[in-house]
Amino acid sequence: MSRGVFIAFEGIDASGKSTQARRVASKYGALLTFEPGDTPMGAQLRTWLLDATLLMTSQSEALLMLADRAQHVATVIEPALVAGRSVVTDRFAASTLAYQGYGRGVDLGGLIAATNMAVGSCIPDLTILLDVPTDVAAARRASNNADRFESESQDFHDRVREGFLSLASMNAELWLVLDGTQDEDVIAGLIDERVAALDWF
Ligand code: TMP
Repeated sequence: MSRGVFIAFEGIDASGKSTQARRVASKYGALLTFEPGDTPMGAQLRTWLLDATLLMTSQSEALLMLADRAQHVATVIEPALVAGRSVVTDRFAASTLAYQGYGRGVDLGGLIAATNMAVGSCIPDLTILLDVPTDVAAARRASNNADRFESESQDFHDRVREGFLSLASMNAELWLVLDGTQDEDVIAGLIDERVAALDWF
């Protein structure tokens, strides 16, 4: 049986990635999943990760994100891919490098080594980055109750955004970077052009 196709969506909060991830998964009949939190263990980790009262250090935060990912890969993503099902995930490894590495200043080399341990050979066939200026994203979020990450400073979100763009430029052939301020249907069309060209057996 052929292995499924694996696509990750990335971007700062309110970049529109969740909407586009849903559209791709529905169009291609892929399993739609997310990080952090889409396993029984991950759901508990997510409540810790978003709880501002725990005064979590950046290192603890990074290691919990990676624990969530290791569990997610081993129990959800890899079994689906091996069974021939394609998978679309709303956030994956680049989120840890961008948020904890570029955003919080956790050592990138250490994060990359730990990420390799968490994901093994389970690497997305394509990572789609919806790039949105941080002031646009902040305006989109204005009406929501901000969580621990969303209430971080604009400087933090600027570093995360630049982190995503740097990661994309280092692996350009495996990334699609799109201007996330465009109309939702226009973005969906651009994504579909690239996704349709993947090896869907
Ligand atoms: P979500 O809003 O996309 O569900 O994600 C919750 C928050 O978790 C979001 O603000 C980004 C953050 N996050 C990290 O900081 N590092 C990670 O590795 C992941 C997966 C998410």
